[in-house]
Amino acid sequence: MTRTATAEDVATIVAIEQACFGAAAWSTALVHAEVVGDRHVVMLSDDREAYGAISVSGDVADLDRIAVVPDARGRGLARDLLETLVDRARDLGAERMLLEVAADNAVATSLYESAGFDTISTRKGYYSGGVDALVMELGILEWR
Ligand SMILES: CC(C)(COP(=O)(O)OP(=O)(O)OC[C@H]1O[C@@H](n2cnc3c(N)ncnc32)[C@H](O)[C@@H]1OP(=O)(O)O)[C@@H](O)C(=O)NCCC(=O)NCCS
Repeated sequence: MTRTATAEDVATIVAIEQACFGAAAWSTALVHAEVVGDRHVVMLSDDREAYGAISVSGDVADLDRIAVVPDARGRGLARDLLETLVDRARDLGAERMLLEVAADNAVATSLYESAGFDTISTRKGYYSGGVDALVMELGILEWR
């Protein structure tokens, strides 16, 4: 189960970021901006071991982040978060969701593909080390 994150959850989310992304983790200021932003939705799992964030602009939602601490992976937390975020995006008027994922992140691409995302383009060498980014899209109106 998940709930909407508040400013009181920022330290918890920063800890999840650091456990998942190391040096590339979002700062406290960036997480705070995401949590309090008007166009943003941040959901935190009830066990506080996973979170996900979207931003919505017009009919497009961007999946900004989804992260589960290593010890809690493989239990369906990311799928649960993703489904909740798609529902929230639809409620806010979004008709499609976009994301970028490193082409070598097989676990994340498997999650997104199994949720119904299609790869619509590739950004060559987008990430450090020259790793490509896949741009993926989900049609929210046709989803579920
Ligand atoms: C990607 C991530 C969010 C998945 O979290 P999770 O809670 O373990 O995922 P779930 O248990 O909900 O699994 C959902 C789907 O992900 C895929 N998946 C999960 N673990 C996997 C693994 N070890 N190998 C391959 N696919 C896997 C599967 O498609 C799975 O669906 P299935 O259970 O029907 O096979 C997690 O590994 C993570 O936080 N990684 C680091 C951060 C990251 O890369 N985030 C995404 C980019 S921002």
